[in-house]
Amino acid sequence: MQNFLFYSPTEVVFGKDAELQTVQEIQKFGGHRVLVVYGGSSAVKSGLLARIEGNLKTKGMEYELLGGVKPNPLLSFARKGVKQATAFGADFILAVGGGSVIDTAKGIAHGAANPDIDIWEFWCGREIEKSLPVGAVLTISAAGSETSNSAVLTNEETGEKRGLPSDFNRPKFAIMNPELTYSLPSFQIACGITDIMMHTLDRYFTPTEGNQLTDGIAEALLRTAIENGRIAMKNHSDYDAMSELMWCGSLSHNGLTGLGAAADFAPHKLSHELSGKFDVAHGAALSAVWEAWATYSWKEKPERFVRYADKVWGIQKEKPEDAVKAGIDATVSYFRSLGMPTCFTELGIGVQNNETLRELAGRVTGNDAYTVGSFKVIHTEDAYCIYQLANH
Ligand code: NZQ
Ligand code: ZN
Repeated sequence: MQNFLFYSPTEVVFGKDAELQTVQEIQKFGGHRVLVVYGGSSAVKSGLLARIEGNLKTKGMEYELLGGVKPNPLLSFARKGVKQATAFGADFILAVGGGSVIDTAKGIAHGAANPDIDIWEFWCGREIEKSLPVGAVLTISAAGSETSNSAVLTNEETGEKRGLPSDFNRPKFAIMNPELTYSLPSFQIACGITDIMMHTLDRYFTPTEGNQLTDGIAEALLRTAIENGRIAMKNHSDYDAMSELMWCGSLSHNGLTGLGAAADFAPHKLSHELSGKFDVAHGAALSAVWEAWATYSWKEKPERFVRYADKVWGIQKEKPEDAVKAGIDATVSYFRSLGMPTCFTELGIGVQNNETLRELAGRVTGNDAYTVGSFKVIHTEDAYCIYQLANH
């Protein structure tokens, strides 16, 4: 087991009617003037936003609304939010939505606390020294941003989609009522299940040996997400299944499922470049590259894939390579059963020419300025080969 520091400070308020505690939580963390950030229309249609506004009014809180965050959220929109938060004098940013809204809220919080710095500088490596507190009312189980240390924005001027890891990205609280996810369309539930699985898979496939507890937690989380994902796809209002998915979503990305081990995250990096260039949903971009990544990488350590097939899918085979293949096939079949794409054409971006694949591969590694992944270390040429395998 490698040395680690585990820090997951977000207060989780989980269950039916949890959103009624939103204002109480904001006050607990010192908020008086709240910028409420939300997405396109779902929080308005469901009545959630009106309920939260009603709560804020009853408690005499000052607030302003900022709606319109789009999936694969844009830097320009976060910059707009910084201006509004600064003009309003916000001292708390409340996100009502999914990963895109929460990540935008995190960006706004960094900008509002540092009005003389353009926020993209933080995404380019400048250290954050202060930020405003952020709280999240979660409406989709997927990205895990409600407890993660990450925020992902797309710079539409350059087409780059980048994550920013920082403890300033940890929300103060996460309100998690599984009933708020009942209104999700099947495609978004499926994207969420995929992303939840991938946050653990991108940690589980690691070169680090001998992490019994962490491996066991990761395998249990994967089995739970797979089983409840099946139920949730059939019945969006199954409280127990939606609860399991919601909790899996947070634990899958707060660090727990990879403690003491080197994380990989190459499939995430490969998928981000697809979302950055083609504006495709995050979960769909992940399932579209995973088979290619697995097929390209398993030989680094076949026994890890053999264990995965056994512990997660209950598959045993005499020959290790048969078990590896069966585990990969089971994963890909599961993605298909959710209606998720498993190659570029299914992702809706068609077959790409070599020039585009080269451009994407270069972006994954900053043209070999750095490598990504740890299970298999990925250089530009590897990224290119993986994209080629998915390019059908
Ligand atoms: O905009 P609205 O109308 O709210 O619709 C959203 C959006 O179209 C809809 N939706 C959300 N809750 C709903 C709902 N529709 C009906 N009923 C509800 N209850 O779902 C769509 C997708 O929303 P989004 O916030 O984009 O989903 P998700 O949570 O999957 O977030 C994806 C973003 O998070 C990033 C991804 O790259 C992507 O940009 N990630 C963030 C991470 C983090 N901060 O730690 C880690 C992840 O790996 C990921 O990269
Ligand atoms: Zn993800």
